[in-house]
Amino acid sequence: MDSGKQLSGTLILAVFTAVLGSLQYGYSLGVINAPQKVIERHYGRALGVLQNVSHSDNATEGLPHPTVLMYWSLSVSIFSIGGMISSFFVGFVGDLRGRVKGMLAVNVLAVTGGLLMGLANKGVPHIMVIAGRAVMGFYCGLSSGLVPMYVGEIAPVAFRGALGTLHQLAIVSGILISQVIGLDFLLGNDALWPVLLGLSGAPAILQSLLLPLCPESPRYLYIKLGREEEARKCLKRFRGEYDFSKELAEMKKEKEEVMKEAKISIVTLVRLPTYRQQLFVALMMHLSQQFSGINAIFYYSTAIFYKAGVAEPVYATIGVGVINTIFTMVSVALVDRAGRRTMTLIGLGGMCCCAVAMSVGLVYLSTYSWMSYVSMAAIFLFVCFFEIGPGPIPWFIVAELFSQGPRPAALALAGCFNWTSNFIIGMCFPYVEALCGSYVFTIFAAFLFIFTLFTYFRVPETKGKTFEEIAAEFQGRRGRRPPIPAATELEQLKSSSEA
Ligand code: GLC
Repeated sequence: MDSGKQLSGTLILAVFTAVLGSLQYGYSLGVINAPQKVIERHYGRALGVLQNVSHSDNATEGLPHPTVLMYWSLSVSIFSIGGMISSFFVGFVGDLRGRVKGMLAVNVLAVTGGLLMGLANKGVPHIMVIAGRAVMGFYCGLSSGLVPMYVGEIAPVAFRGALGTLHQLAIVSGILISQVIGLDFLLGNDALWPVLLGLSGAPAILQSLLLPLCPESPRYLYIKLGREEEARKCLKRFRGEYDFSKELAEMKKEKEEVMKEAKISIVTLVRLPTYRQQLFVALMMHLSQQFSGINAIFYYSTAIFYKAGVAEPVYATIGVGVINTIFTMVSVALVDRAGRRTMTLIGLGGMCCCAVAMSVGLVYLSTYSWMSYVSMAAIFLFVCFFEIGPGPIPWFIVAELFSQGPRPAALALAGCFNWTSNFIIGMCFPYVEALCGSYVFTIFAAFLFIFTLFTYFRVPETKGKTFEEIAAEFQGRRGRRPPIPAATELEQLKSSSEA
């Protein structure tokens, strides 16, 4: 088997460079948790309001002033709002000057966001942080689409899953790094918290230096722009000594198909019956990633551990980050062998059982003290199951499910779905928890059960298949429909919207 030869130095460099964008996304997701009390204190000072927690780091000691709380909540949630909006522009940015230049251009946002937060103490802190988080969210919405798009397009079929999972590995590493350096004796303290937040933009500088060394996506160059010679050169750089003639032939075939189809916008994609199946699967997978409840754990783990009777909840949270990273590595190793469908099924099914165990643990905690171990074990296993499938796979499977024409629009829509559901969970979980108490994870168990069934019945295996074979699989399910929207279908759509 000579497939290993396909992993050239250039390919590895390009994937590493791209996922530096994912690292920033993870860092920004995790960084806001640990220094909450410290930052609230600075907000309170700037706003001239007295804080109930003014001289203590103890999270349980009381709630901050309502105005501070409002500015704090906004600082947390504005990130997702930025991402929700910008994820719509992923297709536009990726197609405008190419994937590489797109990633390079959006780094301006990451650096600006980092600077705004890093200099928070030089201005009005809450305004600077909110502005910085908004810009950073806008950046992350774009990079969380551009990275899987580029990696999915340059990866050889045999390694598409493993390389695609590196996006998630970089996200979870970013979360873990932010959790560790956010400890109060490192950067999560009174003096250094702006540095902690400002570092969110640092990987953008390294990425900007490396991106000019990365070749453009050959699929973009050839299929989108028709520049065969350039595409060939880039493919040669990516594949090294490996014979890529088969891949080139497959790209040629895809180009012929694409020539027959018009440019697919988000609106067209939603309305065309041809892509309905793929779109449904893609969006459901992103929905299952978020409505599995993973971020309820990530955003509120310290509080959950506290409730489960853990003495040092902050360290348990870091433990979750470590497990999270280890199991994403397991997924990198397995996903191209075991397949996307199998890993997602095992992951979702396992998470469903863990959510039930977590609920049982929390409900009976007051009766049996050993139940705290049940809850703890269930939380850790929940995260393990998430990372072997439902975490990484939705991010890269969208690029696999769609051919070159609709891919940018599909990634934009899926990204927006992901960000919106992430935002909904983040906002609603504390209220739902207040309402349901220890039973809150039974809601996620129910969702997970439905998602497991959905995956079993509707998600096809994409492992080792070319984009064309995957399209054909859906075509087979649809019956006798053409593989791509015929011009007549697009015409019909146009006239029906004009009528
Ligand atoms: C995925 C999710 C993200 C979550 C992370 C946890 O990347 O998209 O919302 O925080 O996994 O590992």
